[in-house]
Amino acid sequence: MYKYRVPATSANLGIGFDCLGLALNIYNYFYVEESKTFVFKGFMDLDLKDNLFYIAYLKSCEYFKTGVKALKVVLKANIPIARGLGSSSALIVGGIYACLLINKLEINKEKMLEIATIIEGHPDNVAPCIYGGLCCVNNDSLLNIKVSNKWNFALFIPEYEVKTSEARKVLKRELSLDDSVNNISSAIIGIEALKTFDINNIKVLNNDKIHEPYRKKLIKDYEECRKVAMANGVKVFLISGSGSSMLMISDLPIKLEMKDISFVNVKVDQKGVACLKNYSL
Ligand code: HSE
Repeated sequence: MYKYRVPATSANLGIGFDCLGLALNIYNYFYVEESKTFVFKGFMDLDLKDNLFYIAYLKSCEYFKTGVKALKVVLKANIPIARGLGSSSALIVGGIYACLLINKLEINKEKMLEIATIIEGHPDNVAPCIYGGLCCVNNDSLLNIKVSNKWNFALFIPEYEVKTSEARKVLKRELSLDDSVNNISSAIIGIEALKTFDINNIKVLNNDKIHEPYRKKLIKDYEECRKVAMANGVKVFLISGSGSSMLMISDLPIKLEMKDISFVNVKVDQKGVACLKNYSL
């Protein structure tokens, strides 16, 4: 039996729409072994055709030409669904990893990223899920960046969902030159600030003009949460992925409370998907 964990991810980091993502220490745990028939436990999508783990596993078997071995898969899911924390990516990466382990293939992260991106459509969640840390990724390049461990991170996780497909519909198809320049410069400065613990420049992560201005309306508590965060010294307040969660970054410890919204301190996961030796459900 193989046991492994896959981290949650927070995509976009504000100014890095569809190209930046950060792995977080909230994990989905998988127990996988060969079986006579496919058995899935702990999955929300009981229908196989909607099960992203199964879809990714089959796609990987095809990609690596391994043939399809039936599996028993037990999932202990800690990543909340449709909250902008990469729950779909975690299932996809989990399915690809299962194919590599069961067939005793080399863990080739480049190939994992290629398959995962085909399934997910954009690589900003799947890349950090595979590599850990902060990833900047486009169609043919990947930069895996180590974020300073002096930053403090926290999440507000609302009870309600925001579907990525809906959150992509509200975006504008065209950008002004000014807004493009703003996002490019802020991304460059912001990434460096994350690496070097630059407490003056980190605020540029708040400057997004591509998606946050349109998406914040989909999160009814956004303005209130932002107000509370900023009033309490938080330096950066962002929509995590396409929402509904909100990611906060500060040089100081973050401790906040909001009615009906979960608050959780998180850390950067540095490893990405990883096998575990001693772990029991
Ligand atoms: N970059 C994606 C988006 C992440 O913001 O739509 C969500 O999967």
